[in-house]
Amino acid sequence: MALITASAPGKLMLFGEHAVVYNRPCIVTAVGLRIFSTVEEIETNNIEVETNGLHIISIDEILDPTHMQAKDVSFVLAAVASLFRKYGGIRTGIRIITKGPEQSYGLGSSSAVTVATIKALGDLFGLKLSLTDIFDLSYQAVLAVQGKASGFDVAAAVYGGTIYYLTGGKRVEPLNVETLPVIIGYSGQKVSTIGYINVVQSLIQRLPWAVNPIFDLIGEIVESAKRYMLVGDWQAVGELANINQGLLESIGVNTDQLSKIIFAARGAGAWGAKLSGAGGGDCMFAICDNHTSDQVMNAMEQAGSKIISFKLNAEGVQLENN
Ligand code: MEV
Repeated sequence: MALITASAPGKLMLFGEHAVVYNRPCIVTAVGLRIFSTVEEIETNNIEVETNGLHIISIDEILDPTHMQAKDVSFVLAAVASLFRKYGGIRTGIRIITKGPEQSYGLGSSSAVTVATIKALGDLFGLKLSLTDIFDLSYQAVLAVQGKASGFDVAAAVYGGTIYYLTGGKRVEPLNVETLPVIIGYSGQKVSTIGYINVVQSLIQRLPWAVNPIFDLIGEIVESAKRYMLVGDWQAVGELANINQGLLESIGVNTDQLSKIIFAARGAGAWGAKLSGAGGGDCMFAICDNHTSDQVMNAMEQAGSKIISFKLNAEGVQLENN
């Protein structure tokens, strides 16, 4: 039987995290941390997923939203369920094998595996899915697992490149930037995105008068960063990153360790540095020119960060040869 493999990239959130969950824009770039999903039809009534071990679940169970799914495979199973719900005629057993780098550093492996799986399944069943279809099906899957999410990481995995994005995919605008003078640092602390989304949700419910203006300002920073990125004024982009970081600190998603790396990067001459994503750990990035990049990297390492060197502006979802 046919084996189909698709791959999708991870993401690095540049500007606008958290605010984008509440109807403000963000800017994200796709990173070359690719996740591969290989699918084939099998003659049982099961969905078999091989990723860190084998997980087997029946087709009926997958469509039951109350069924608790093993965390490792929840996004893959949600991707299958999303496709089954939309295309009621498809109810066959499937084997899915996913592969990716050993560590994903919070750079969007869940959305990437969801998107790669939808793309591969679409091809397997001859569905001729457009990129918008893949986005919609994948976003439904991510929402089913996470409850609340803006979908920016799904958009990065589907479209690739660097994107200006508005909540729920209301706008997806590719930004024509060739290179991004960005160094990624991993803080060493692993984070639950949904945990931090909930922290911010609780804050905005209790103090909307304080948090909403902060999110409006983050929205303005995103607009301004977009303009400066398009003309290649990275010094200004760096300054905006610093302001965005201050605002993220004010809503309680920063950590000592992130601050330490961020200040080290700035102290070594970076134009700017901020955390990336939900906060609480995972990655940060620094923006600096070629002349200072070595000293910035050294300073970040001294501060306890691991330098992560994936390609930025990476290609979106694609089929791979089997
Ligand atoms: C997490 O990487 C970024 C958040 O804005 C969540 C989301 O946009 O879905 C916190």
